[in-house]
Amino acid sequence: MYRIFSHFSRSFPFHLKPKLLNQEGNHGHLRKVYKKISVFQSGLSKLHPKRDTRIHQTAKSFHIIPDAINIRHCREADIKTFLQLTRKEGWDNTEFDCRAVLKLDSSSFIVAADDADTPLGFIVVFDMFSDTCYSGQLIVKDAFRGRGVGRKLLTALWERIGEKNLCIYSTENLIESYRKQGILLESIRSIAYRGIITSGCKELKTNENECDIVPLTDHIWHDLLAYDSIVYKGKSREKILRLWFVGEYVYTVVAFSKGKVSGYGSFIKADDNQYIIRTVFGDNSKVVDEILDNMLARIPLGAMLTFVLLADKEVPSRFSGFEPTIVTQTMSTKFKIETESDKMFYICYHFV
Ligand SMILES: CC(C)(COP(=O)(O)OP(=O)(O)OC[C@H]1O[C@@H](n2cnc3c(N)ncnc32)[C@H](O)[C@@H]1OP(=O)(O)O)[C@@H](O)C(=O)NCCC(=O)NCCS
Repeated sequence: MYRIFSHFSRSFPFHLKPKLLNQEGNHGHLRKVYKKISVFQSGLSKLHPKRDTRIHQTAKSFHIIPDAINIRHCREADIKTFLQLTRKEGWDNTEFDCRAVLKLDSSSFIVAADDADTPLGFIVVFDMFSDTCYSGQLIVKDAFRGRGVGRKLLTALWERIGEKNLCIYSTENLIESYRKQGILLESIRSIAYRGIITSGCKELKTNENECDIVPLTDHIWHDLLAYDSIVYKGKSREKILRLWFVGEYVYTVVAFSKGKVSGYGSFIKADDNQYIIRTVFGDNSKVVDEILDNMLARIPLGAMLTFVLLADKEVPSRFSGFEPTIVTQTMSTKFKIETESDKMFYICYHFV
């Protein structure tokens, strides 16, 4: 089925790069996190040898002719394949996320398919702001990696964005490759964590509450959007937030201090025992703690929780048993998306 040509071998620097973390110069705790990730991944690799991303691997010694790969939009049946692939990588995508992005833009999933129309890989891209496209979740089926499928998806991405600014979430291993393609501006660095909810995660409740935490309803949507627009320095993320923060399995709250909105937070129940914190923004860590108290009260003991924390924020003691899993760097081509990073704590990979 696949036309195969040219003997080809390459060595990929699969390991996470401590040097990149150290370039920041000021993040002693990042070095510790890197060490933890290495230990965690080496544990994973014992269970799943194919997942050991730290070793140098030689790519497959043959290539699929790029012409045999078709680029097309996503179909209903592809969502299942996409989710299977992302789950294998330990990413936190859910069906809800996919459908939200597809509602925003039905052409947001670019699919690379073989000549029998079976998907081999995916990349997500959509217009985040009028001048900026967001892209992420570049993924290729393991058995087809190192044969040009990713490159073909990236070519389709470049065609799709045209003259717009591109903002992309890169995992550590791809930063260098993206730099080579001219994606040079680096902004938010974040770290994903995963762990089990214990009573210790929920025990921080204080009597000196600084704010009122109110579940999101229609009449406070404008408060949430106003706060988000402060964090994003005047930009509006309304379209995607309206798709992301409401739904059967989504819980979103807004915090008010002295009658004024001081933060908000959201999580999603991915399945019976898996929860993902999507976003928690707040004026300070006290507000963020109170939002977490409120949200964690709705997550059962023993559930698996995933979240993505900005790399310059300390992991709160309630999550001290959680393991760091993936380090991610936001990169863009023409300009950085400016944010009030003091107010950003927990973020979501799937949109800027
Ligand atoms: C990253 C991934 C999508 C690349 O797809 P692929 O089909 O194997 O890649 P290709 O053979 O087309 O190579 C595309 C480019 O990516 C680079 N690349 C591919 N895999 C890489 C890896 N694991 N580490 C570093 N660079 C890699 C290649 O060097 C190549 O760059 P070049 O064009 O400058 O030579 C694929 O390895 C994958 O699905 N990985 C797991 C998910 C992941 O890490 N996604 C990245 C999220 S941003």
